[in-house]
Amino acid sequence: MSPQDSFAKPLIAWQREHGRHALPWQQTRDPYRVWLSEIMLQQTQVTTVLGYYARFLERFPDVQALAAASQDDVLALWSGLGYYSRARNLHACAKAVVAEHGGAFPRSSAVLQQLPGIGRSTAAAIAAFCFGERVAILDGNVKRVLTRFLGFDGDLAEARQERALWDEATRQLPDDGIESYTQGLMDLGATLCITRSPSCLLCPVQAGCQALREGAPERYPLKTRKLKRGRRSNAWLWLQWGERLWLVQRPGSGVWAGLWSLPEFDAPEALDAASADWPGTPQGLPMFTHVLTHLDWTLQPVRWTLPGDAAAGEVAAITATLAGDGQRGEWVTLPQALAMGLPAPLRKLLTTTPT
Ligand code: ADE
Repeated sequence: MSPQDSFAKPLIAWQREHGRHALPWQQTRDPYRVWLSEIMLQQTQVTTVLGYYARFLERFPDVQALAAASQDDVLALWSGLGYYSRARNLHACAKAVVAEHGGAFPRSSAVLQQLPGIGRSTAAAIAAFCFGERVAILDGNVKRVLTRFLGFDGDLAEARQERALWDEATRQLPDDGIESYTQGLMDLGATLCITRSPSCLLCPVQAGCQALREGAPERYPLKTRKLKRGRRSNAWLWLQWGERLWLVQRPGSGVWAGLWSLPEFDAPEALDAASADWPGTPQGLPMFTHVLTHLDWTLQPVRWTLPGDAAAGEVAAITATLAGDGQRGEWVTLPQALAMGLPAPLRKLLTTTPT
């Protein structure tokens, strides 16, 4: 029996009968559309991606349109999807495809991988779906499926073990049907072979699954290195002047890089000190904690309403100190703010706080 008989073949048959076929990015072999979906799906669930995907394509129907856009416009459409480095890389990749490849995506995974934001697995998915290249994917879901099926108990925190699993993934590839196989791996990892309580009884490859034989599929994959979570807290200043609020563009690196946000202070005391002689009234808003991959971030928003008739010169002095660090700042109305690239918790704050 070849390895294909116990893994690739039943997986392909299962995908064709039970897998997902109606997702919008499955209705095309246009690498622009497939690439966009793969980037959006990297850290985001299908149900969330669907709406963003449609809006994004309506605004940027092809790679030329995306390459010609401003970074602000791209970030605005990405706002709420999180992991914003994906959006900046997406934009950089579109520009590279236009500038270096004449506007056509490269057709091989080896060349695709050299573009910004396209790693080995994403390059393989695009090349398999669009160009039928026989090449292995290995994202987080697929690692779970394969380590379980093979009983692969190497520690994936070690590069050597990760390389060994890539080799295994390549060994399992079918001779034909790479599109259904690749989609089948993704579908299996997303629907049956899930992290907790996998549905082994429905699994097309249960007969050959080593983890199931051992009776503990959830033991896989093995990864020792734990993320050390940090904590941080800051005060956020919502400065309101008439109909407008003051937004600053965050620096090009770090959390929410390039997005528009509220001026940030180390602590409420730092905000008190800075605002000691400002006209108007502060109002403390409910504190909240925003959970990022590496960080629990507690934010204390303070809304400061300047008198509507405050002198323009006085207001300009305040915003000059807030802009600091060479950050761009602007007075914008609420509807304007909501059309900009905002971090999700700020969007929520602005839309749910009563005026
Ligand atoms: N996750 C990553 N790629 C995907 C795809 N093509 N379909 C469904 N989920 C995915």
